[in-house]
Amino acid sequence: MTFTKLVVLVVLAASAKAADHDMYHNCSRVDVCSQNRELERQERYQVILEGAMFSQGVASFRVQTADGIEDVGLNITAIEGNIFRVQIEETESSRYHIQDVLDGEPTIVNFDDVQLWLTSAEIFLGSNRAVVNFSPFSIEFYVNDVLTVVIEGDRLTLQNEELHTPFTVGVSFTQALHLYGLHEHADYLALRTTAPGGDDPYRVKTMDLTYYELHSTMAMYGAVPVLYGHGINSTSGLFLHNAAEQWVEITNKDVGADAFFMVDSGALDIFIFLGPSTTDVVRQYTSLTGVAHLPPIWTLGYHQCRWGYADQTDVETVIADLDANDFPVDVIWLDIQHTQDMKFFTWNSENFSDPFDMLANLASTHRYLVTLSDPHFKKEEGYFVYDEATANDYFIKNPDGTNYEDECWPGTSSWMDYLNPAARDYYSSLYLYENWNGTTSTLGGIWNDMNEAAIFNEEIEKTFPYDVVHYGGVSNRDIHNMYGYLQTMATHKGLIDRDNGALRPFILTRAHFAGSQKYAAFWTGDNTAEFGFIPISYSMCLNANLLGLVFCGADVGGFFGEPSEELLQRFYQAGAWLPFFREHSNIGSERREPYLYPEDVQATIRETIKTRYAHLPVWYTLFYEHTRFGDPVIRPLFYHYPNDVELLEIDDQLLVGQNILVKAVGESEVESVQVYFPGGENEIWFSAQLDGTTFPGTGWTDIPVTIERIPVYYRLGSIIPTKQTSRPSTTDMKDDGYTMIVLLRNDEMAEGTIYNDDNLSFEYRDSQKYIYADLSATDMLLVISAIDDSDDEEFEIVIDDIVTLTYNDDGTVVKNSYKHDVNGVPLNQMKYQGKEPLVINLR
Ligand code: NOJ
Repeated sequence: MTFTKLVVLVVLAASAKAADHDMYHNCSRVDVCSQNRELERQERYQVILEGAMFSQGVASFRVQTADGIEDVGLNITAIEGNIFRVQIEETESSRYHIQDVLDGEPTIVNFDDVQLWLTSAEIFLGSNRAVVNFSPFSIEFYVNDVLTVVIEGDRLTLQNEELHTPFTVGVSFTQALHLYGLHEHADYLALRTTAPGGDDPYRVKTMDLTYYELHSTMAMYGAVPVLYGHGINSTSGLFLHNAAEQWVEITNKDVGADAFFMVDSGALDIFIFLGPSTTDVVRQYTSLTGVAHLPPIWTLGYHQCRWGYADQTDVETVIADLDANDFPVDVIWLDIQHTQDMKFFTWNSENFSDPFDMLANLASTHRYLVTLSDPHFKKEEGYFVYDEATANDYFIKNPDGTNYEDECWPGTSSWMDYLNPAARDYYSSLYLYENWNGTTSTLGGIWNDMNEAAIFNEEIEKTFPYDVVHYGGVSNRDIHNMYGYLQTMATHKGLIDRDNGALRPFILTRAHFAGSQKYAAFWTGDNTAEFGFIPISYSMCLNANLLGLVFCGADVGGFFGEPSEELLQRFYQAGAWLPFFREHSNIGSERREPYLYPEDVQATIRETIKTRYAHLPVWYTLFYEHTRFGDPVIRPLFYHYPNDVELLEIDDQLLVGQNILVKAVGESEVESVQVYFPGGENEIWFSAQLDGTTFPGTGWTDIPVTIERIPVYYRLGSIIPTKQTSRPSTTDMKDDGYTMIVLLRNDEMAEGTIYNDDNLSFEYRDSQKYIYADLSATDMLLVISAIDDSDDEEFEIVIDDIVTLTYNDDGTVVKNSYKHDVNGVPLNQMKYQGKEPLVINLR
């Protein structure tokens, strides 16, 4: 039996649904956590006034240990947009500084003023200031004179071990009612207090956590060392620019919350975001680490995946069956089986003997293919990637300089060293059409899986041991968390080069780090077919969206196990309102394509998928706004209702943009669910069924539910651009007209935005070829007007229908639907083509 078959059988046979707590280490088994967790608070460092320097937005101080020995430097830099950068490092330092994560060098701005006192220095920046207290040492950050963030000197340690450079630092968010961030954990959105004897600190390390559990602080595939403190008056945040393993102890107080970082290695380099709003903090963070470019629109449609589509006929049959049963779909995915013996960049010669034919067939129905490509390469002489990478020294090394080898899907493998720019370039080049036989642009996306990296070796927690060495002699300890990031960077370049920069690439990654949004979408990995995994997908994707990682989704149906019909429908209904919408299942589970179910189940799933397609204009506009402003696509309620303390912990409801409110149903056989309607009495929420039902934003309300749909609402005062044409794919909808849904109150204006372009290319970015317009409406007048003067006639907006729902003060709703203007001119003859406003008079 081959190794691969054996592994597959093990996966099939595995029945336990809990993570292996013996194999995955807890705090007590990891030095940096166990040795520091109960660190005493005491004065260890003092700032020396002598020699302090202030120039061009950079303040430098010398710091020494309380007994006057160690020499340490402290730099505080002012960065454009209300950001401070704090770097603390020994003068003689061997600390590793990560590269390629920031989206360009941050722009330094001059301080507005500096005041030097005997015991402190004050650095003024706009309405904020940083105060460096010399002894006891701390750095305080004031927002409009309110103390908001403190870097605590009494838990600062800089350690120097033989092979690495651990450090600890405490940060207090003095105004916070809750902390958010530290993605990725399968946990509540609002971070919990961790404490010795209770929960472990949040472990931030990219790991393949098999059978991840709900509400756990265990490390998972992603590691994003970003933390936001949200209080009633302001939000602030930090980003620890470091890719080593970290453990973060959280202590929530009535007001204020503390985070204690225990970091295994690397530089103490912290960016502090002073908001003051949640939107500001998110924008500050994305201004540093970058935004996602617009996804090609087909990636916003429905994705059909399974670890198990084993040959070309299977691919074609699945698509044909989806079509025959009227399920829109844009993408079908191939897992490891498309390869020859798990050798990436090859096709299985028997089952995928004519990939061109398969791709042509898919293209003929406007469907795309995504295939999987992992970072490990089978050790086999004659396998061209293995040979070339070995010859050029592109694999990760053992300390003795030999190629690092261990087990993964193909058996004994080596791992590409993406820290090496030449290895990255080589890997990118593998995606060129001439190098990867049998590919065309219909193979539109790549799935980078197992890139934490995942290794079949339980002795090492199934990931790289720290003594493996990367390019330039860099220890894995220093870059562990960005290994997957570097792979996606290379894949992204590969796809860009492959199509000469003409097409927007799509990459799905499992491992991710700060800034991964620049290159890839991600999903929440191997979830389980249980109800609890539905709400956790909202919590995880909301957290990620706050941290710039906007293109997030979860395996619909649950990767492990068998969803009941009810569970599958609930998974679809929730998943259709996450940015990335894909059904996926483990090879060991039953097939679950939606057409395999009884007609009533199919009907629910069909309506759910069609609802997704109807709202594509909303998704596409939000993704554009993300590229432009750095905003999240889906948002927790507190993002738009920051002052309502009742909703700060809600994480099974989300806002799509600002105007659509969705509640996941994460329980079995419920007849009603509690929905929190935010915003106060005057914020009215209309049922998205458009049946005239409304709810004021006055908090928790019991809402009856049936299996047909989950609660979804539109906000009064908004205009929701939709396309109600039902078609097999997004490509087929390209030229369809819009249905504008207008949610009004008498005499008040409703508003929205709309974006359109060629759906595929970078011309929106490089040549400003797009339409981005304001929508505004009163009950009898709809106006579309340009936000930018960059509009393009090619992408005209044609409206088929306008549906108005007008809310009266007595709570009644009047619904009207228009296909003609007041003069009887069909709406779809009145095109908006950019520059000139289009005014549609319905009176
Ligand atoms: C692990 C991934 O999480 C899963 O989605 C995929 O199906 C398997 N690897 C096989 O490639």
